Amino acid sequence: MLKRTHNCGQLRLEDAGKKVTLAGWVHSYRDHGNLIFIDLRDKEGLTQLVFNPETQPEAHKLAETARHEWVIAAKGVIQPRSEGMENPKLPTGQIEVSVQQLEILNRSKTPPFEIENAQKTNEELRLTTRYIDLRRPEMQRKLHTRHRVTKLVRDYFDRLGFWEIETPMLAKSTPEGARDFLVPSRLHKNCFYALPQSPQLFKQILMISGIDKYFQIVRCFRDEDPRADRQAEFTQIDVEMSFVDSNDVIGVHENLIAKIWKGILDVDVVAPMRRISYKDAIDHYGTDRPDLRFDMKLKNISDIAKQSSFKVFTSAIEKGGIVKGLCAPGGDKYSRSDIEKTLTEFVGDYGAKGLAWLKAKKENEKLTLAGSIAKFFSAEQLQQIIERFDAKEGDLLLFVADDEKTTNKALAPLRCKLAKELKLYDEKSFDFVWVVDFPLFEWNEDEKRYDSLHHPFTAPVQEDLDKLDSDPANIRSQAYDIVINGSEVGGGSIRIHNPKIQQKVFELLKISKKQAQQRFGFFLKALEYGAPPHGGIALGLDRLVMLLTGTNNIRDVIAFPKTQRGQCLLTDAPSEVNQRQLDELNLRTQKHLHAIEQKPDEQK
Ligand code: AMO
Ligand code: AMP
Repeated sequence: MLKRTHNCGQLRLEDAGKKVTLAGWVHSYRDHGNLIFIDLRDKEGLTQLVFNPETQPEAHKLAETARHEWVIAAKGVIQPRSEGMENPKLPTGQIEVSVQQLEILNRSKTPPFEIENAQKTNEELRLTTRYIDLRRPEMQRKLHTRHRVTKLVRDYFDRLGFWEIETPMLAKSTPEGARDFLVPSRLHKNCFYALPQSPQLFKQILMISGIDKYFQIVRCFRDEDPRADRQAEFTQIDVEMSFVDSNDVIGVHENLIAKIWKGILDVDVVAPMRRISYKDAIDHYGTDRPDLRFDMKLKNISDIAKQSSFKVFTSAIEKGGIVKGLCAPGGDKYSRSDIEKTLTEFVGDYGAKGLAWLKAKKENEKLTLAGSIAKFFSAEQLQQIIERFDAKEGDLLLFVADDEKTTNKALAPLRCKLAKELKLYDEKSFDFVWVVDFPLFEWNEDEKRYDSLHHPFTAPVQEDLDKLDSDPANIRSQAYDIVINGSEVGGGSIRIHNPKIQQKVFELLKISKKQAQQRFGFFLKALEYGAPPHGGIALGLDRLVMLLTGTNNIRDVIAFPKTQRGQCLLTDAPSEVNQRQLDELNLRTQKHLHAIEQKPDEQK
């Protein structure tokens, strides 16, 4: 077998005259009657091979048989391409290999789609034959970026004295708020492991063990419906530190993010990054993961709307709701039907019952607002609205009236959609913001109890500790989220290290002493043996790599991802298992039970 001497992205004009051997896949094939050209591809790039029937008849003859995606090795001499044939887009575009010897290492069936046109191929087909899809330079670039990020992360933490320590995958259920994946135990009948939703309790126990600075690039499992930026199986850069406050954790991660952006994109990130309180984020942007590449703040106009004669608004306010809106610069270009159909349906998907609109127009040299609901407002009220939004001629103002939660839920994505369509920001830019001052709890009306906004191990702000009994709703937590371009890339907190406070928090979450003991008894016990003050964070590696590679599909940055329906199309998981496996685990599936009902005698 010909052994390669170079890769396909390596050779340049200076190499002319060298004898080389390259190996790879036939990326493209052109038969010019006389000469045959093959673009040979490996993970480093493409190099043009040329076969001349006059000088190398044997190699040329064999080259005639080669097809797309065959695996070949070629030995020959580097020569400059003839004039006019250079390809400035390729790093190897100045040269070609004049092949003297060709070896076909393997043939390939005709691939189900062309590597070059994969972008247009449906994703299911790409996932089913992922090995073809991953041959695409674009996909390899993403995998390479992911590798470079993890390498950079490991080097960074190593230099700071962090140790990477693995924690179990077969574990006890941890409370990150999602559904667990369960694994039945063969040795302990009727008992289950849970795959970790995160290493949260193990990393805290490592602090109690005196490890001090821990990190781990770790797989986490949450049985939730996958989305564009969510997989049931995903990876965190998980960190925990002892004797720190939130500024320490934030500082270490600002530097890490700056290093990643510099190392991968050669972009300078300014630290310290800005911070915004949870309350301001919700008030101004309707979400705790605001995209701050553009302004377009939401404004509450309930005070003005209350005075109007627009029933939709006044009745929403009477029911305890609000009227909130935004002003899209240059939004005049949206037609009435764009607004009343497309945009209204868009907010409808988030629960809004309608979308009221006004356009800022000049009338007799004076700026005023026109539109379907203008007639319900006095001239003075319209001026107040103009002032509230600082509206300019050609702007579009859109409003939702509903309870506060629904209003924000609808307006936040509308704000992002409009900014994108109106090109209000540079798509290549990045904005980094820490969201801080989260409330510790959120009231759960259905279950009449509090929920943790992060997780139950998050510490309250010291000054708010006395509110644990009197005013739990107004306790702030020592939690922080890092948001990049509107994507929640990481979240963490300073933890509770006092067992009494931890117990109190469980009470407020209506986790009884008995339940707490059953679920986290091992952890509560550990807290009693000298737990240092500690805190940490986890960054979503997949989301980081999505931002760094400019994709909005999480499946693009994972070699073997699951579909929206949680399937691996390549291996066809999940799939049924055989009866013996089930018997060993003492499990019965519905199908099996049904079979027993149908044929009771045989199965007994
Ligand atoms: P949290 O649940 O906020 O915190 O997760 C941390 C980060 O992980 C990423 N992430 C996900 N990425 C892809 N798919 C998912 N299903 C998914 N779920 C979460 C997000 C998120 O910001 N133990 C705590 C961290 C801590 O307190 O230290 C935790 O897991 O980018
Ligand atoms: P209607 O009176 O239902 O025909 O609505 C008149 C206008 O108000 C339409 O543009 C609706 O989209 C809008 N609208 C209806 N309900 C709401 C709401 N809850 N919030 C904002 N606008 C609404």
